[in-house]
Amino acid sequence: MRSLWLDTAPAIPSDPLQENSRFDSVVVGAGLTGLTTALLLARAGHRVAILEARTTGAVTTGNTTAKLSLLQGTSISTILKHHNAELARAYVTGNREGQSWLLRFCNEHGIAYETRDAIDYATTDTGARKLVSEHEACTEAGLDTELGTAASLPFPVRKTLRLRDQAQFHPLEVLAGLAAEFKRHGGVLVEGVRVEGVARTGAEGVELKTSAGAVTASNVVLATGIPILDRGGYFAVLQPMRSYCVALTVEDDVPEDMYLSADSPTRSLRTATVDGTKYLIVGGNGHKVGHSSNTQARVDDLIRWAQEYFPTARPAYTWSAQDYTPAAAVPYVGKVPAGGGHIYAATGYNKWGMTNAVAASLALAGEILGGNMPWAETLYRTKISPADALQTTQANASVGMNMVSGWLSGLSRSSASAPGEGEGHVIREGARPIGVCTVDGVQHRVSAVCPHLRGILSWNDAERSWDCPLHGSRFTASGKLLEGPSTSDLSDTRR
Ligand SMILES: Cc1cc2nc3c(=O)[nH]c(=O)nc-3n(C[C@H](O)[C@H](O)[C@H](O)COP(=O)(O)OP(=O)(O)OC[C@H]3O[C@@H](n4cnc5c(N)ncnc54)[C@H](O)[C@@H]3O)c2cc1C
Ligand code: FES
Repeated sequence: MRSLWLDTAPAIPSDPLQENSRFDSVVVGAGLTGLTTALLLARAGHRVAILEARTTGAVTTGNTTAKLSLLQGTSISTILKHHNAELARAYVTGNREGQSWLLRFCNEHGIAYETRDAIDYATTDTGARKLVSEHEACTEAGLDTELGTAASLPFPVRKTLRLRDQAQFHPLEVLAGLAAEFKRHGGVLVEGVRVEGVARTGAEGVELKTSAGAVTASNVVLATGIPILDRGGYFAVLQPMRSYCVALTVEDDVPEDMYLSADSPTRSLRTATVDGTKYLIVGGNGHKVGHSSNTQARVDDLIRWAQEYFPTARPAYTWSAQDYTPAAAVPYVGKVPAGGGHIYAATGYNKWGMTNAVAASLALAGEILGGNMPWAETLYRTKISPADALQTTQANASVGMNMVSGWLSGLSRSSASAPGEGEGHVIREGARPIGVCTVDGVQHRVSAVCPHLRGILSWNDAERSWDCPLHGSRFTASGKLLEGPSTSDLSDTRR
């Protein structure tokens, strides 16, 4: 599976990293959060490096839907269930700042985007009620939404909630523009270097242990999706949620606005024209990472749904990605607890990172450079609470089988039969859970225990990966780390 965006990405060159380098700021991760934060710091005169384990945009930003919208499903009514109206208004203000910053950047650097209305739609009475609540919440938070019934969709709709003049873009074109501007300000962007640990050195600095040697900096920003340091406790308050996208070539007219269903299963729609070809992008069928036994069925179902309503559509790309749902309903952004005041993180965008990542970057750069943003102080004052941590931990480990101890006492399989092509399962050898799979005719055997905090991995047949149900680390069939809070690969168990 490969996204339309990564397959048609402009070249983004990587720079070499000198061992024992010292920077004012090191940003870990080259997604939208990392590149925007790094650019803001470099523009202010900092000597900045971005260290990226894979390639620019390889994880969530390169596999997003890239709607740049302040109407975000039913986010505002959810926020108001947890917080007061002042915080909801700060959320809207921060997202509006993020959206404006990015559109201004696109305008100044000739990066294309399309202006579109964002529309939530309901096909049931329950969905319609959710939209009425969201409209009331948006009004309270300062968003000018409109309730109605008009939608250019090929099926009946009970109610719509519209926010005019939002935007959509090609996320890799935006990352390429940010990277070019970052380098123009002296920034160093290094791909293929994984940060394995971060430790304070004296009062002034932070030392990063990386796969390419040690690097030191005055400040470190973890822009890694879910933060890689356990000391913040982030993994205990974030629910990793994976979902699927298909880009279909279309011959007939398709709805041009950006749609999102209020009912389940979620359906997200937008169009994109890339290299002269027009695509309809349909997203949805999400689930907790590592908690679905047949992920390919979810992809097939999206294609079936799209072709039911758009019969001439032909699938050209399918892909998948995950983002992190915060227990407190708003992102966690700021100094990492016990980071000595020099380590920062931003996470928990709940699938609305196009605006939230830029808002977080503005806030983090402001904090590092000594700026003052009242909306950020209100929005990011929410800290990790023990009650939220307990609730999320219980949800992530809802089945004891996800932990080694539960797995061993449960109904573990000890089948010696080789999995068929594209299949994988966990078998028991003594007290050891072993992942066995067959991909492209090659059989792989890996430890099925996640190196992060010992979750038992499950097989993802659509992506042919080992996925951790606890905090969302993912590994290739042969055990190489793809994403998540782990910083190491699975151990090989070849006999
Ligand atoms: C299916 C889907 C659709 C979405 N659609 C939308 C949408 O339409 N609109 C919207 O606003 N939001 C959307 N989102 C959310 C949005 O895409 C994300 O919130 C956003 O891309 C997150 O960006 P990021 O930079 O924080 O993370 P990422 O893009 O994941 O970047 C993190 C980077 O850190 C790197 N990294 C991790 N660990 C290390 C390490 N140890 N050392 C070095 N590098 C490391 C990774 O390789 C990665 O490149 C969607 C999300 C999903 C899953
Ligand atoms: S990601 Fe935490 S245990 Fe696997």
